[in-house]
Amino acid sequence: MVSNSAGRIVILTGAGISAESGLQTFRADDGLWCGHRVEDVATPEAFERDPETVQDFYNMRRRQLRDVHPNAAHEALAKLAAYWDGEVVLVTQNVDDLHQRAVAAVVPKDTYQFYNMHGELKSVRCVESDDVFPWEEDITPESANPISGKAGTLRPHIVWFGEMPFFMDEIEDALNRCDLFLSIGTSGNVYPAAGFVQRLRYLGRAHTVELNLEPSNGTGYFHEAIHGKATEIVPQYVARILSGEII
Ligand code: APR
Repeated sequence: MVSNSAGRIVILTGAGISAESGLQTFRADDGLWCGHRVEDVATPEAFERDPETVQDFYNMRRRQLRDVHPNAAHEALAKLAAYWDGEVVLVTQNVDDLHQRAVAAVVPKDTYQFYNMHGELKSVRCVESDDVFPWEEDITPESANPISGKAGTLRPHIVWFGEMPFFMDEIEDALNRCDLFLSIGTSGNVYPAAGFVQRLRYLGRAHTVELNLEPSNGTGYFHEAIHGKATEIVPQYVARILSGEII
């Protein structure tokens, strides 16, 4: 049964939702971030100092996307985008394209919105013109801006540490009118995303739920926490939403 209530749902996802598709999460027990020090590959300073290492890191991650597929958790959220009568706003910190691919397989409602707040691997940005272009291949020193033809000006369209995430105004608006907030597969280490649940608790309007393998850093802020694998707990929770049980 599809609910007719027009509840507004905001979903925040992180690396944990793509883990079972074969993409590594970031924070490992050895303190490394994807096997690197953050300062070496994910800051504007690193790019200035050693562009080749930074480009190689994102080239490798872009190539990985050819071998992975959306999993049952991405598909369940796509189903929500297709069947939920109210607003569904999907905000992801992930730079893979697995949400986009899952949603491309359904017909989302007009009320579905998607924001990849940390950018995307499959886009590049020209550091001179700020133009953004779709991009599937490696970025090399010969790669040129498709409009100007100038080489050596492209960088990954990724928000690095110290840079401002994208779509913050749109996300803020969505949080202000949200009835149900789901935080899926994120450790709650990185702001501003880690602060969304605190903002919602302050507003006092939305029911907030954490769906994660283990308690996140912010687990105490949520009304409800369900711990398990995303491919199991997300489809189950989405089924409950679509049956009208939650809102
Ligand atoms: N199902 C559900 N959750 C999982 C699964 C799984 N199969 N596997 C791992 N997780 C959980 C982990 O327990 C962890 O809490 O996903 C979370 C992943 O946390 P991080 O690696 O810190 O990733 P994320 O929260 O997305 O990082 C946020 O920080 O590194 C930067 O810009 C990067 O977007 C990233 C941001």
